[in-house]
Amino acid sequence: MLNKIGLIGGGNIGGVLAQELCRRMLAKSVALMDVKDPDLAKGKCLDIAEGTPLIGTDIELIGGKEYDVLEGSEIVINTAGVPRTKRPDGSIPTREELLATNLRITDLVAAGISKYCPEAIVVSVANPLDAIVYRLYQQLSPPKSRLVGMAGALDSSRYRYFVAQAAGVSVENVEAIVLGGHGDTMVPIRSCCRIAGMPVEKFVDAETLEGIESRTRKAGGEIVGLLGIGSAFVSPALSALDMVESIVFDKKKIIPSCALLEGEYGVNGLFVGVPTLIGRNGIEKIIEVELTEAEKEGFKRSVAAVQKTVDEVGAMG
Ligand code: LAC
Repeated sequence: MLNKIGLIGGGNIGGVLAQELCRRMLAKSVALMDVKDPDLAKGKCLDIAEGTPLIGTDIELIGGKEYDVLEGSEIVINTAGVPRTKRPDGSIPTREELLATNLRITDLVAAGISKYCPEAIVVSVANPLDAIVYRLYQQLSPPKSRLVGMAGALDSSRYRYFVAQAAGVSVENVEAIVLGGHGDTMVPIRSCCRIAGMPVEKFVDAETLEGIESRTRKAGGEIVGLLGIGSAFVSPALSALDMVESIVFDKKKIIPSCALLEGEYGVNGLFVGVPTLIGRNGIEKIIEVELTEAEKEGFKRSVAAVQKTVDEVGAMG
């Protein structure tokens, strides 16, 4: 158990995170802050706190609208920013279309982290994921082990779920990873997908797998379209928690996540989704996996898409 975990952003993901951190007793104190509404974070925390007798935890919940509530946090999870929301004409914005707004918010987030918990490991969830992580890196210049983006955990969980459904097996039997950026170019890695240790092709035919991989790439948008009022929040929160648990318990779990590449996969100076070993120090290792030629091509395309958004970040100053 840590002393304190801080949450920036009191929206739907922040709410699930606060509740689950508390239920799983991952830190003695959980702080939630949201600048938008003076009482939102306080209200969410009080709601959860009033339920703690029922789940039997004595975790302290601290809600507020200023960054000072984060003081001393050992891990900070950043969900601050506007989510993708279906437009009145039914169309769905890309994650990249959130860039300008969420970049401004990210600069405030970075200032808050530097002031109140500069040593924290930062797990960032806000979109467009790869570009926001890059901006946090520019503003905070942390050791690269201490800044990580949550995307691969979620994309891989979606891939695993769809494969399990198609194969008619437990989700627990399916192992899979999705690499690259957290956009429509992400790359589900079929050559690494196993069902109970056996190649996925033994259970699911190639055409069905292609459909699943295409659905995985667009899965975030599918939820935005269905919900109508914002983006997915339960599965993103659970994905971030998988990473946080690996940090808190020093599990050294290998989880695809958005990490700074310095030569790995032939990429230098960009944050991209790759398999990472996560422990008490944050990202402790980047794992280089053998990819097929087609997967390598897909990864290259995805890196180019991340680079494009990062260039836009640069152009915005
Ligand atoms: C998604 C958002 C949270 O993929 O990025 O659902």
